[in-house]
Amino acid sequence: MERALGSADGDRSPADALGRPLRDLRISVTDRCNFRCVYCMPKEVFGRDYPFLPRAELLTFEEIERVARVFAGLGVEKIRITGGEPLVRRDLETLVAMLARIDGLDLTLTTNGALLGAKAQLLKDAGLRRVTVSLDSLDDAVFRAMNDVDFPVTRVLEGIDAALAAGLSPVKVNVVVKRGLNEEGILPLARHFRGMGVVLRFIEYMDVGHTNGWRLDDVVPAAEIVAAIDAELPLEPVEAAYRGEVANRWRYRDGSGEIGVISSVTQPFCGDCTRARLSVDGQVYTCLFAVRGHDVRALLRGGATNEELTAAIAEIWRARTDRYSELRSAATVDLPKVEMSYIGG
Ligand SMILES: C[S@@+](CC[C@H](N)C(=O)[O-])C[C@H]1O[C@@H](n2cnc3c(N)ncnc32)[C@H](O)[C@@H]1O
Ligand code: SF4
Repeated sequence: MERALGSADGDRSPADALGRPLRDLRISVTDRCNFRCVYCMPKEVFGRDYPFLPRAELLTFEEIERVARVFAGLGVEKIRITGGEPLVRRDLETLVAMLARIDGLDLTLTTNGALLGAKAQLLKDAGLRRVTVSLDSLDDAVFRAMNDVDFPVTRVLEGIDAALAAGLSPVKVNVVVKRGLNEEGILPLARHFRGMGVVLRFIEYMDVGHTNGWRLDDVVPAAEIVAAIDAELPLEPVEAAYRGEVANRWRYRDGSGEIGVISSVTQPFCGDCTRARLSVDGQVYTCLFAVRGHDVRALLRGGATNEELTAAIAEIWRARTDRYSELRSAATVDLPKVEMSYIGG
C-alpha cells in the first residue's frame, strides 16, 4: 500500500515537512501560577489585573483526555503535564489517572514543587511514574528573589523528598541559569543532588514570550555550565537515549549520577524536535516559539468525531516547518510570541 507523502508511518505517525515524527506532547493545564519567576511571569506583567483565562475557556479533563488519546493514536509516546503551575489546577490527580490509562504512554509532570509535599503520593497513586521539579538555587535568598513570592527553598526540597519517598522515579530537577542571578549556585546544586538519584538538568535561559526582557548576554552557555562542574566533579558524556531527547547527558566519572544540559540557545535542537504543545485553552502549537496555535477546542466543542480530530491534527503536524531556535538572531527576539506559562514550558 502506498504511504501518504511526508509520512513516517502512514496516518498513524505523520512526519512533518522537515521529516520529523510526532512523539511528544506537552499539555498546559493552567495559565496560572503560585510563583512569579522573574524569567517567566514577571510581577510587573502578571500582576493583580492580569487577564488570566476564565474557567470556561479551559479544556476540561475529559477534553484533554480525548485530545491526548488522538495524539497517542498518531504516535505520541510521551506526555508531559505542565503549565503555569499544574498543581494549582484542582484535582489534577484525576487527570493524571485518566491519562495514565492510555496504553504505552510515558506520563510525566513538571512542577515548581511548592505543592508537591502534599500531592506526591496522590499523584503516584493516580499513575504518575516520574516528575520534574524546577529549582533554580539552593541559596534561600536567591531562590526567594527568583520565584519573587518569597517562597522558601526548604519547602521545595521537602517536595522533592516527598516525590522520592512516594517512588516517583526518576526525579529530575530543572535549573534555569541566568547570568548574574544564580550562576554561583551551579556547583552547590551539583554537590547536593549527586548520589541522591536525582538528575539535575541545567537549562539555558530562553527568549520565550515577550515579558522577560531577554538578552543574549543573560544566557550562560551549557558548555560553560558543564566545564564549571567538570572542574570539580569530573564528567563524561552519555549517549542520547532516543531521537528528540532535549538534554545532552553527562555522568559523573565516579559513578555518582548524571546531569543534563539543555542548550536551546547555543546548540538548538530543532532538527530533532518531535514535540507538540496543547495550550490550556485547546490550541495546538508546533513550536514553543510559535506565534499562532491551531484551534482544536473549536473542533472538540463543534462536535468533531475522533476521525476528524485525528485527520486535523495529522494535517497540522504534516504542515509543520518550525525551527525558530536555529533561526534565532537579534531580529527574531522582537517577533511576536506567546508566553510560556500559557503554552506550557
Ligand atoms: C513554564 S514552567 C511550567 C511548570 C512549572 N510551573 C515549573 O516551573 O516547573 C516549565 C519549565 O520552564 C522553565 N522556564 C520558564 N521560563 C524559561 C525561560 N525563559 N528560559 C528557560 N526556561 C524557562 C521553568 O524553569 C520550568 O522548568
Ligand atoms: S517557571 Fe513555572 S513556577 Fe516559575 S512562574 Fe513560570 S510557570 Fe510559575
